[in-house]
Amino acid sequence: MTSIGFERGKTPYTNRDALLDDYTPDELVGRDDELEEYQQLLNPVIWGDQPSNIFLYGKAGVGKTAATKFMLRTLEQDAQEYDDLDLATLHINCDGLESSYQVAVRIVNSLREPTQQISESGYSKAEVYAMMWEEFDSNAGITLLVLDEVDHVRKDDSILYQLSRARENDNLETARIGVIGISNDMTFRDRLSAKVKSSLCERELSFSDYDATELRQVLEQRREVAFKDESVNDDVIPLCAAYAAQETGDAREALDYLLVAGDLARDANQSTVTVDHVKEAKSTVERQTISKGLADRGEQSQYVAYAVATLDAEGRTPVRTTDVYERYERLVDRTGERVLSTRWVREHLDSLAMLGIISADEINEGAGGGQYKEYELDQAIDVVVDALSDTIDYVGVHESIQQYY
Ligand SMILES: Nc1ncnc2c1ncn2[C@@H]1O[C@H](COP(=O)(O)OP(=O)(O)O)[C@@H](O)[C@H]1O
Ligand SMILES: [Mg+2]
Repeated sequence: MTSIGFERGKTPYTNRDALLDDYTPDELVGRDDELEEYQQLLNPVIWGDQPSNIFLYGKAGVGKTAATKFMLRTLEQDAQEYDDLDLATLHINCDGLESSYQVAVRIVNSLREPTQQISESGYSKAEVYAMMWEEFDSNAGITLLVLDEVDHVRKDDSILYQLSRARENDNLETARIGVIGISNDMTFRDRLSAKVKSSLCERELSFSDYDATELRQVLEQRREVAFKDESVNDDVIPLCAAYAAQETGDAREALDYLLVAGDLARDANQSTVTVDHVKEAKSTVERQTISKGLADRGEQSQYVAYAVATLDAEGRTPVRTTDVYERYERLVDRTGERVLSTRWVREHLDSLAMLGIISADEINEGAGGGQYKEYELDQAIDVVVDALSDTIDYVGVHESIQQYY
C-alpha cells in the first residue's frame, strides 16, 4: 500500500485567493474608456435624478461584472457626501432564474430581512410583484438594480418591462429605480420585444474584448497580490495574456492560465512559476473547457462532434453538412439511439462552432452558385478525442481515430 500524507512544501503564492473568480480588485485596469462612459450614464444619480436604464453587453470575461461592482461601490461611497441622497444598490445574478416570477421572488428576498423571506411558491405573480414594489418603496430614494446575466431570463421577460418602466406605470409611489441589465449574449437584446427593448435598453454600453496588452495589465495587477516577489518568471504573464488574447480576449481565461500554472509549480514543490508551467496549464485549461462545453451540450452534440473528428482524422475536412450527416448517421445507427434530422444536425454544428470546438466557413459560389457552410475541427484532434472519450466508448471506436484514442 502506498502511504498517503499531506505536507506543505514550496510555493510561489502569498495569496492564491486573488486569482479566484470571486475576488474583486480595488482598481480596474485597461477599461478607462468604458468606465468613463459608464460614469456619465450614472451621473444623474449623484444629483438625485431618475437614472436611465442601462444595457451593458460584451463577451464573457471582459470585465462587465467587475466594472459594475466597482462603479456602484464608488457611487455609494460618493453618495454619502450628500445628506439628501438616499441610494441603495442591489446586484442580482439571473443565472438559474428563468421566469419573471423567479426574479421577483429573488428581489423581494434580497430586500427583506432573513426572517421575512418568501418561498418560491405559494404566492401569485401579482402578490409577489406587490411585495416587490412595497420593498422598493420602503427605501424612498433611488435603487440601482443590477440584473447580471439577464439573458438567462428566457421564459417570460415581462418583469424587465415592469422594472424598467416602474415609475411611468405607477408601480412605485416614492422610490425610483434604475435598471442595469448585463448580458454576454449579444443576440439577447434583438430577441426582446420592442416594448421591453426600448425601456430596458434606454442607454447602451458595450465592452470590447481585451487585447494582449490590456490582459497583461490585468494579470500584472493580480500577480502583485497573489504571488511572492520574484516568484513569477518574466515571460509568464506575457504568455498567459497572449494565449487568452488569441482565443477570446477573456480576462477570466487569462487568470485561469496563471492560476493553473501556479498550482502546477506548487504541486511540483517549486517556488517559481515558469513558461513551461504556463504551456502545460494551457492544455489543461483547454481540455477542461472543451469537455465541459461538450458535456453541457448533451449527447447528440457529442455524436455530431465525433462525426466531425473522424472526418478530420481522415483528412477530409473541411466538409459540408451532408458529409457530416452521413457519418453521424452511421455512428448513431450503431447505438440504436434516435437519429436526428439534417436540420438538427446543422443546429448542433453551429452550436459547436459557437463553442469553438469546430469552425464554420460560409462558402459563396457567386451568382447562381449557391451558398453553403463547411466545417472543420478548430481544436487539436487528440484534445477533442480525449473530451469525447465517454461517447467514443459508448458508440464504439471508429478506425480513423484509433491512434488518438
Ligand atoms: N479590467 C480589469 N481589471 C482587473 N481585473 C479584471 C478586469 N476585467 C476583468 N477582470 C477580472 O476578470 C474576471 C472576469 O471578469 P468579469 O467582470 O467577471 O467578466 P464578465 O462579467 O464580463 O464576464 C474577474 O475575475 C475580474 O475580476
Ligand atoms: Mg459577469
